[in-house]
Amino acid sequence: MGSIKKALRAVLLRVETLFEAVFGARLNPITQLGSLGWFLFWIVTVSGIYVYIFFDTGVTQAWESLEQLARQQPYAGGIMRSLHRYASDALVVVVLVHSLREFAMDRMRGNRWFPWVTGIFLLWFMYACGITGYWLVWDQLAQYVAVATTEWLDSIGIFAEPIARNFLDSERLSGRFFTLVIYMHIALPLVMLLAMWIHIQRHAHARVNPPRALAVGTLVALIALSLAWPATSQAPADLDRAPFTVGLDWFYLAVYPLLERVPGGTLWLLLVGGSVLLALLPWLPPLRKAPPARVDLANCNGCSRCFADCPFGAITMVRRTDGLKFEQEASVDADLCMSCGICVGACPTATPFRRVGHLSAGIELPDRSVSGLRDEVGAASARIAGDARVIVFGCDHDADCAALADAETAVVRLPCVGMLPPPFIDLVVMRHQAEGVLLSGCAGHDCFERLGDQWTEQRISDQRDPNLRARVPRDRVAVAWNNPTRHGALRETLAQFRTHLRGLAAGGPAAQAGKNPAPWRARLRGLPAPARHAGQAVAYAALAGAIGLLATRPAFTYLAEDQALLKLSFSHAGQPLKPCRRYTHEELTNTPFSERSATSCERGRWPVYVELDLDGRPLYRGQHEPAGLWNDGPSTVYARFEVPAGKHRLDGRLREDGKASGFNFESSRTVTLQPGENFVIDFRAAEGGFVFGLSGRTDATEDPR
Ligand code: HEM
Ligand code: SF4
Ligand code: SF4
Repeated sequence: MGSIKKALRAVLLRVETLFEAVFGARLNPITQLGSLGWFLFWIVTVSGIYVYIFFDTGVTQAWESLEQLARQQPYAGGIMRSLHRYASDALVVVVLVHSLREFAMDRMRGNRWFPWVTGIFLLWFMYACGITGYWLVWDQLAQYVAVATTEWLDSIGIFAEPIARNFLDSERLSGRFFTLVIYMHIALPLVMLLAMWIHIQRHAHARVNPPRALAVGTLVALIALSLAWPATSQAPADLDRAPFTVGLDWFYLAVYPLLERVPGGTLWLLLVGGSVLLALLPWLPPLRKAPPARVDLANCNGCSRCFADCPFGAITMVRRTDGLKFEQEASVDADLCMSCGICVGACPTATPFRRVGHLSAGIELPDRSVSGLRDEVGAASARIAGDARVIVFGCDHDADCAALADAETAVVRLPCVGMLPPPFIDLVVMRHQAEGVLLSGCAGHDCFERLGDQWTEQRISDQRDPNLRARVPRDRVAVAWNNPTRHGALRETLAQFRTHLRGLAAGGPAAQAGKNPAPWRARLRGLPAPARHAGQAVAYAALAGAIGLLATRPAFTYLAEDQALLKLSFSHAGQPLKPCRRYTHEELTNTPFSERSATSCERGRWPVYVELDLDGRPLYRGQHEPAGLWNDGPSTVYARFEVPAGKHRLDGRLREDGKASGFNFESSRTVTLQPGENFVIDFRAAEGGFVFGLSGRTDATEDPR
């Protein structure tokens, strides 16, 4: 598992780096997948409401109403319908990459088990929404989806009667079931929205809106795809014929073709078992749980900055318990704490300048005290020499800052750069412990601890308390956000920063004390603007193209063109295990009048045994147990066969009395099956037994034997 994760991480980090070169860090779609998911969900919702206004919910009118929408308003209606389909497909892409990424980055441990497990539920909701959506169009794809889904659901064996019987043929098509699916397609997205909201409940400041430029780019790409390749219906559904091929939406329906090869029950087992295994991943080794942050009340003044900055909602402000004059105090929920240390960086009492008594902050990581950090910084400063000394504060997930250490560079590692209280930068620069401070974090806009990069930048640029004091020249502070694949970029930043520091020493541009400018940034060579824009266009076009293609192609062959479908399906109650007995006169007189009945029947029925032969050869043999808790319900049969089109003799036999041999019903027919025909063999005891084909069918001739 570890090596899969590592390989996946290497690939995804490279893709992220590539996208960052093209989109820049802020607009990088790879680091915005969660918020893009929300955005796509809203597009699907708005376009879905629009299409629903014109949709006729009757099973026979559904297809026509969508055709009319396309005919009468090819632009508004056509685009909305296409957007509804393509944004749903884009949602699958975004959500799958989002989950792969969280897995690869191991962002599922500790408190993060919650978004991970709720995410797995979201996957199921997303697929259920998409599959029920395809049903509604009531075209050939919908027919295939309806039949395959109900057959698949029947393989669980929980329905008293196979629900696939609702779609047996045009005579038995149930409009009620179709209406139920429509309501499901409306209710499921609402439940999904609730689940999406629950998904981010343990994340403070969760990003649910992508940056505007990214949102606009995505929407424009989907509209362009809708115009170039409008989503259309396939031929109308006809339950008396099976489609030979269907244009499958591979984003939602990729597992469906497997149903023709793998038993439905096995596929359920794989999917449900796989989901349970995935849900257990957060608790599989290696488990590393660093000690949670601890509040030291003697130093906590109740300012609530730690509460505002904690990315995982682990801190609450509660009424003061120690009698000090402050109204509130911070309280850490150890189960939610991820030991990132960002609260330490937020605490105004975490200042290394304090000389009175032992240095201890209001909130600390037990294994990384603030006084220990001050000692480390002192030792780091003592290790380096030269005219452009740099102390690098790096994190555990950056581009290997430890490898930067040399005679002029000392490295101090923290769980997250956001843990560094700004007064430490003040100390290093103003006490000349080094000429400059480089803050090296893991990824701009996608910090492993979620908000470390954001809070650090805001503290340095005086937008967030505790801010870096104005007296500290910002020219001596550099930030670099690089994922682990970008060690070269980190090295380059350090080299440029050092050159810059030397320039300052030689009387270069004056240090800008007191002006609170934006933090000094590496001036790495990026792609020129036209190349970036072209790259973005290619990325959007690739997404739109992939969606346009895979939404209907390659087509899936359901039935070979020279074949027909035979379905044997019915519901029939076997005979009672014991024949019913008439009550004696004495029994009847002893029974209250309101409870009297003529006969006494014990519960329990014989199973129904069925045989079907095709041209004298066995096609089906099956024993079907009675339904119900007391085995007194009907036995139901549902079996589907592909047979060559043409003339065939069919022999049906049924035994309902539990005897070892002989049959209670036998019938034979000769029929000519057309290619693609869906021929149903029913059984109705009241009509004498087996019923072959639609009631109006004339070519099913009784076998003269
Ligand atoms: C409709 C589907 C989904 C949407 C809209 C969605 C959206 C989001 C959002 C907005 C965040 C917060 C990002 C942040 O601000 O840091 C998030 C976090 C997360 N999601 Fe999802 N998500 C979805 C499905 C999934 C799935 C299927 C999984 C995995 C099985 C998953 C796993 C996670 C994890 C582990 C986090 C926590 C990341 C962290 O702590 O940094 N999500 N998701
Ligand atoms: S270390 Fe502090 S900021 Fe990080 S999760 Fe724990 S309480 Fe929150
Ligand atoms: S930031 Fe520090 S002083 Fe303020 S409430 Fe949190 S622990 Fe207390």
